[in-house]
Amino acid sequence: MSTRVLVAFATGYGSTQEVAEAVAAALRESGVEVDLRLAREVRVLADYRAVILGAPLVMHHLHKDVLGLLSRHRKALVQLPVAVFALGPVHDPHDEQEWQDSRDQLDKELAKLPWFKPVAVEVFGGRFDPALLRFPLNKLAGPAPASDIRDWDAIRAWAGDLSTLLACSG
Ligand SMILES: Cc1cc2nc3c(=O)[nH]c(=O)nc-3n(C[C@H](O)[C@H](O)[C@H](O)COP(=O)(O)O)c2cc1C
Repeated sequence: MSTRVLVAFATGYGSTQEVAEAVAAALRESGVEVDLRLAREVRVLADYRAVILGAPLVMHHLHKDVLGLLSRHRKALVQLPVAVFALGPVHDPHDEQEWQDSRDQLDKELAKLPWFKPVAVEVFGGRFDPALLRFPLNKLAGPAPASDIRDWDAIRAWAGDLSTLLACSG
């Protein structure tokens, strides 16, 4: 039986990749064998006993590369424990409305996949840097300030809880 866990992520501007790396590192510290892959490069899931998917919310949707993975690997994912995290809020860590909006967007995306029953779903704060935006978004964003509200303690704590959860479902 496979012992490895896959952390597969999508990213537009790199911040979700860094969170996926932190999740993978925390799992490894708990003794879990982890592969870290870009979602669009994942070919087979047969070697894994669990999967963690990470993606940013973009224009109210999960990043297309994670939606693509979910669609391509539906048959395998139905059989595995899967956890999901999304990056969304970028302004004020205490703005409850922004967090609720991101959570609602994520829930709405997952509700479109009734077959998909993740064992854990989490929203993390993200990073926004107008200087990184590509055309035409750089023109549309206007003079917005850069921010990074990723909470590394919360990310590590979630990954730690996950290692327990995945051990139970493995
Ligand atoms: C063009 C753009 C659109 C975004 N749309 C949303 C959104 O609809 N909902 C949300 O919660 N966050 C949204 N965000 C915030 C991102 O999820 C956040 O910046 C995240 O950290 C980006 O991840 P990445 O660096 O891996 O691409 C958006 C960010 C950008 C740049």
